[in-house]
Amino acid sequence: MTVPVRRFDAVIVGGGGAGLRAALELSKAGLSTTVLSKVFPTRSHTVAAQGGISASLGNVQEDHWKWHMYDTVKGSDWLGDQDAIEFMVRRAPEAVIELEHMGMPFDRVESGKIYQRPFGGHTAEFGQRPVERACAVADRTGHAMLHTLYQQNVRAKTQFFVEWMALDLIRNSEGDVVGVTALDMESGDVFILHAKAVLFATGGAGRIYASSTNAFINTGDGLGMAARAGIPLEDMEFWQFHPTGVAGAGVLITEGVRGEGGILLNANGERFMERYAPTVKDLASRDVVSRAMAVEIHEGRGCGKNKDHVLLKLDHLGSEKIIEKLPGIREIAIKFAGVDPIKDPIPVVPTCHYMMGGIPTNYKGEVVAPKEDNLETVVNGFYAAGECACASVHGANRLGTNSLLDLVVFGKSAGESMIEYINSHKEHKALPENAAEQTLTRLNRLNTQTEGENVDELRRELQQTVQRHAGVFRTDSVLDEGVEQIMALAERVKNTQIGDKSAVWNTARVEALELDNLIEVAKATLVSAQARKESRGAHASDDHPDRDDANWMKHTFYYSEGNKLIYKPVHTKPLTVDYIKPQKRVY
Ligand code: FUM
Repeated sequence: MTVPVRRFDAVIVGGGGAGLRAALELSKAGLSTTVLSKVFPTRSHTVAAQGGISASLGNVQEDHWKWHMYDTVKGSDWLGDQDAIEFMVRRAPEAVIELEHMGMPFDRVESGKIYQRPFGGHTAEFGQRPVERACAVADRTGHAMLHTLYQQNVRAKTQFFVEWMALDLIRNSEGDVVGVTALDMESGDVFILHAKAVLFATGGAGRIYASSTNAFINTGDGLGMAARAGIPLEDMEFWQFHPTGVAGAGVLITEGVRGEGGILLNANGERFMERYAPTVKDLASRDVVSRAMAVEIHEGRGCGKNKDHVLLKLDHLGSEKIIEKLPGIREIAIKFAGVDPIKDPIPVVPTCHYMMGGIPTNYKGEVVAPKEDNLETVVNGFYAAGECACASVHGANRLGTNSLLDLVVFGKSAGESMIEYINSHKEHKALPENAAEQTLTRLNRLNTQTEGENVDELRRELQQTVQRHAGVFRTDSVLDEGVEQIMALAERVKNTQIGDKSAVWNTARVEALELDNLIEVAKATLVSAQARKESRGAHASDDHPDRDDANWMKHTFYYSEGNKLIYKPVHTKPLTVDYIKPQKRVY
């Protein structure tokens, strides 16, 4: 079968914050740039980000990028690469001002400057007290950012392929990336998109968990494509549980609620975070708060008839503040929890929210695929940014509001690197002869196989397995069982079928293809977690309760082929300042 080829300078997979920020850079440089998105770009998951984007603007209280850097390193539990962290926090003020100048409608303080609120783990003077660092548009910051970036891209003449799903990465015999295969989800037609440089900005993969704040589209497509193309996935054992997902529904209630003064209560009406984090209390970093909540529930101090959640109280903030600063939260609480937070507390539980790991990159957005003999091997023509990438600025635990920052800082820097690469490689590298073979084999099976495994059933089993075996607290035996179960599921995923072909729309085909990606992420998560014999950030093991810097201050790289793991030491050299040495992490 001949697969039609379309040619561009740059192909960007994913229309969220990182993809759009990179696309803007490329289009403005006059390069032909196309963005592929499974959904209309302004429906990408960035739209769901609520509380803010961090930058040490100091609009409300004195602030400094060095304090932001310290908080991010500490938040990462010393697994973050300090060169990338310095790069990100120093570019933060400029990145936010750029967004402001593009028209992003930030809230304002009295003086007219951008409004900032406190957020978990963000402090002044190296941990002394909470600081207002989250630049916010009420509780709809991601929505405002995404619309701003989309409009700027329309102006810059970026091309969009809407409701297109990238299926496989194309590498030539040297291993360089030269394009992707993609499915037009409406017609079912397959294309090769031939590019000088490809950026993955495909977002998270939180749908490997049964309970998640993530959109249904967050199926780890970039990670699946990378893994199938022989590229490792980094630090996949680290998954963030957001403390405040609506109990039973999973929908996010922003940490901005606690930033504005909301507090967590157990069944005894006690503000329990005073015991776990005496200095910053409810504004400790997310892994700390989520573990505290899990302990409260486990020890019988959970609320409700099943004692399975805690309460987020905000009525004391007053209706005026709630309506002005947290209107979306009020709506979510009424719709998903049946309570009006102006009067009643919201039932909340820790819920899977964010993937700290991903496709390995350096701070320039270049994909790095470590080999035993060269841990810094760069994959030519391949870039990644945003949640699907691991730069690694979040290490073992991300601070809230550092994700929107990550999108725009690394989206832009990946765009800059791609421009440089494209300008020094003026011609397209040739496509390999079998460029679409992997894709056609997968599609052919789905199109012809009449008997096999049911996609919905396998996805449900996968999500329940990951939820049970890679949760807030882990043990060796729970992880061992998890690996065994996920490997058995992976065998079954090779044998999916999509029922009566004449009766199904392409959504069934798309869901089967997404499952191929989810299973790669789930395998990487469980195998990486099983191997790490310590507790660090979001990876909390009852059998290895302490952080072990002597043996484990290193990144995990999982290769899908052979389920192989290799390790690389954390980058301990920042760009210009002194290394922030590991300390005990208390809040
Ligand atoms: O709580 C929140 O608003 C989420 C922010 C984030 O994940 O950065």
